[in-house]
Amino acid sequence: MQSPEPRGPLSSALRADLRAGELSPDTVALAARTAAGSTDPLRDDDLQITLATCYELHYRGFDDVDERWEWDPALLTLRSHLEQAHLTALRELVGPLRPSDESVDRQLAALIAADDGPSLSLYLGRSGSLEQWREYLVLRSVYHLKEGDPHTFALPRLSGRTKAAMVEIQADEYGGGTPARMHSELFAGLLRDLDLDDTYGALWDAAPAPAFTSVNTMSLFGLHRRWRGAALGHLTAVEMTSSEPSRRYSLGLRRLGFDRSTTVFYDEHVEADAVHEQIAAVDMCGSLVAGEPHLAADVLFGAACSLALDGLTAHHLLDAWEAGRSALREAGRALAA
Ligand SMILES: [Fe+2]
Ligand SMILES: [Fe+2]
Repeated sequence: MQSPEPRGPLSSALRADLRAGELSPDTVALAARTAAGSTDPLRDDDLQITLATCYELHYRGFDDVDERWEWDPALLTLRSHLEQAHLTALRELVGPLRPSDESVDRQLAALIAADDGPSLSLYLGRSGSLEQWREYLVLRSVYHLKEGDPHTFALPRLSGRTKAAMVEIQADEYGGGTPARMHSELFAGLLRDLDLDDTYGALWDAAPAPAFTSVNTMSLFGLHRRWRGAALGHLTAVEMTSSEPSRRYSLGLRRLGFDRSTTVFYDEHVEADAVHEQIAAVDMCGSLVAGEPHLAADVLFGAACSLALDGLTAHHLLDAWEAGRSALREAGRALAA
């Protein structure tokens, strides 16, 4: 994977520096100014692609960037400016959350029940065209080709029942020992069936900001021990909101003429996530909060971020389609032609 095309002054400066092998103090200063000056960090293409570039060094890296950049102190300083802006914007997006005396699984269920974001699965299930489906998959590929990985970073921070519960969930995400059953592999098959490039990172340049905003949020929670509660809350919201929408996505693909060999990614989630939901909310989050009650607020924050960012993505796609536009960046239009 090559480092992504720049989307503004900051990503342009960072790419040039990483390739040259030297991070300029001007680029770090530019990151601080960009973070402080961005009016909408969660939709800011330049900010989000730069943050995604920093985080990707902890995943598979880039062929054109030396892997020793991963723990470069100046680059971590640059990243922290962007993380602060990102976190502040997330707090504004989800608003105040007050944990109650109820069990954390019930509080999570209430949070999900109160979510009034638009339903992408309803739209794509009932009426999405093949072109719209392909745009949706391009956007989601940024996450699903590394499905499981962002949350897995939280595992070494856990112990006992909390850890065992998370391992049980993640083992399914990774195919239970069968590479072809890994959820990222099932998603790659779905991309191929819809004539999209399934190579890791190949669709980044086409994907709009919300794709990176979602994954950057998971990476931030997973890579900072301080945010372990939010990482688990986020994973739990993903699991609790997956089963029924997956059934609708599967029906949408069948409506377009695809069969089980294509819908298997969604069919797998209908079954698995109905089970994961309980393990995540009761066993994983319940035991975490029993041991560390002060993390309840972070669990709810992580879950609320997941719901709110799904809403951001849904709005991005549905607004573009309603206006008769492509939801992808210009680089991606050819993909969906
Ligand atoms: Fe999955
Ligand atoms: Fe799952």
